[in-house]
Amino acid sequence: MRVLSGIQPSGKLHLGNYFGAMRNHIALQDEHECFYFMANYHTLTTIHDSDRLRQLTRDVALDYLAMGLDPDKVNLFRQSDVPEVTELAWILSTVTGKGLLDRATSYKDRVARGLKPSMGLFCYPLLMAADILIYRSERVPVGRDQVQHIEMTQDMAGYFNTTFREVFVRPEPLLGEAPVVPGVDGQKMSKSYDNTIELFAPPKAVKKKIMSIKTDSTPVEEPKNPATCNVFALLQLMAGPDEVKEWEQRYRSGGMGYGEAKKRLVELYEESFGSRRDARADWDARPDDIEDILRAGAARARAVAQQVMAEVREACGIVVARP
Ligand code: TRP
Repeated sequence: MRVLSGIQPSGKLHLGNYFGAMRNHIALQDEHECFYFMANYHTLTTIHDSDRLRQLTRDVALDYLAMGLDPDKVNLFRQSDVPEVTELAWILSTVTGKGLLDRATSYKDRVARGLKPSMGLFCYPLLMAADILIYRSERVPVGRDQVQHIEMTQDMAGYFNTTFREVFVRPEPLLGEAPVVPGVDGQKMSKSYDNTIELFAPPKAVKKKIMSIKTDSTPVEEPKNPATCNVFALLQLMAGPDEVKEWEQRYRSGGMGYGEAKKRLVELYEESFGSRRDARADWDARPDDIEDILRAGAARARAVAQQVMAEVREACGIVVARP
């Protein structure tokens, strides 16, 4: 099966990104043909700082490679290395009613959060549909918040296919296991809430973050409720099942302070992610190899995209001079 996903290079990756998406992305590399790209055209809807966008785009590649993405198995590339997607987004816009985009909740959410309502932000789902359709992707691993975009993609594929002819396959969302990851303040972990625990932060910074996780004020000796505890929620993600059971009991029987659970969380974090810092530093020191990986990924992706675009142009009567 062909699996595709885009990752917005919009900031430092954190545990929420890891457990929500990255972990699933990496696991899929062993079973499917994967196309993963840095969605830098999409990030241009929110970041207008050239150095920063370049840096963030590179960061995503380093982060994924450091976390175990295997460039021999996955086609990893920059969205912008296949500029045909922007052409397809335009073509899709001509068969898509504005009403469909009016119903996109992500646009409304983003504007409600103070983002400028640009045309790019409004047309975001068109570009995302183009990303998916141009590679004839069958499965798209995403979080719940992106499911509406996949449904819109299915609609757009249908509009194109009925207006012209059957060119696109219908993609389906692939919802992996995506636990709720609380941030240090107890809200969903998210860059926009400034409550994240980053994946590659230095040990001291991680420790400080973890020790600052909000807990209630139940005294040490009293029983505690693991189900409502942010520290426990994170322990559950990082510890083995036996250890989780143990902590659950310790919470319920009292005599344990939250500080103790947090200290263990720091250790678990270091066990899982500590060595990834070095892996990341190693990749960081090999810019030419990174470039080769992205170039090779883009070449494979673009070959597919160009073939599909030839069909698309043919189907709708758009003529371009042959080189
Ligand atoms: N919109 C996605 C997100 O914010 C990123 C993305 C862009 C994407 N193009 C895509 C995801 C294509 C899947 C498929 O997470």
